[in-house]
Amino acid sequence: MYDLTGKVAVITGAASGMGRAAAILFASKGANVVLADLNTKGGEDVAAEASAGGARCVFQRTDVSEEADVEALIGRAISEFGKLDILFNNAGIGGAVGPLEDISVEDWDKTQDVCLRGVFLGIKHAIAPMRANGSGSIISTASIAGIDGFNGLHAYCAAKAGVVNLTRSASLQLACDFIRVNCIAPGGVSTPIVWNGSANKEMTEGFLINAQPMPQVGQPLDIANAALFLASDAASFITGHTLVVDGGATAGAVATASKRGQAAPPRSNRAFAGPSFELG
Ligand SMILES: NC(=O)c1ccc[n+]([C@@H]2O[C@H](COP(=O)([O-])OP(=O)(O)OC[C@H]3O[C@@H](n4cnc5c(N)ncnc54)[C@H](O)[C@@H]3O)[C@@H](O)[C@H]2O)c1
Repeated sequence: MYDLTGKVAVITGAASGMGRAAAILFASKGANVVLADLNTKGGEDVAAEASAGGARCVFQRTDVSEEADVEALIGRAISEFGKLDILFNNAGIGGAVGPLEDISVEDWDKTQDVCLRGVFLGIKHAIAPMRANGSGSIISTASIAGIDGFNGLHAYCAAKAGVVNLTRSASLQLACDFIRVNCIAPGGVSTPIVWNGSANKEMTEGFLINAQPMPQVGQPLDIANAALFLASDAASFITGHTLVVDGGATAGAVATASKRGQAAPPRSNRAFAGPSFELG
């Protein structure tokens, strides 16, 4: 159903985490992939791994915050594979962390440069080849931190909220060209960005399992699967959408969510709550 045979995809942040999972998954579904990252060794390794199934995957060192790099990245897809069908703007950093009054302008700007400007640049340079192609799917990785506030992640929250709304405005411009623009808002996912050093993976996963109503650690493949759906023809009438993939973290009042082995909402003898003056 989610076949990408003959498609050409560009994936940023492909050396690690969600981008790595997406590159391997897209290639396994038949796409040729240009992987982009700052991390050359990691990117080349993933390109080799993704190519093992038969699709052709190449790596292009890219800083997504640099326009010349992004232009060259899209150019590589054209020179290598002749067209561009899918762009997954996924590269990101945690950026400036801490109280607002301690955030330097430099750290604020660097966070926006990678997490928001990088997405803008990807969309900007994907338009011409996708128009020439007659269609395209642009997917960006936002975050539930672009929907809800997270204390201490102010710069990241602002950047990811920007990704959510840029997705909407871009979709309005590009729908007439059959270029779909969507984003994914992951909840906590076990990748190096949250481990703070691979030695902390196990400890982080102990926290992540309780970070949402579903008692399960979010994995890179959960996000790659969502990206595959949005990239595929199965999503051909979906644009301007933010697909939340968070195990229920933003579903509503999380404190009311059932715990395993416990019914929700909290048990009561009454099956119907009538007018309050009739209640005992
Ligand atoms: N892991 C989570 O809990 C979580 C939750 C919500 C959103 N996200 C977002 O998911 C995306 C993927 O992150 P991940 O969790 O897989 O982390 P990750 O660190 O494993 O992967 C991010 C990749 O982006 C690359 N990168 C960073 N800055 C770059 C730049 N300027 N140019 C090119 N590449 C760059 C890194 O080298 C890395 O390979 C990010 O946008 C992140 O903000 C992560």
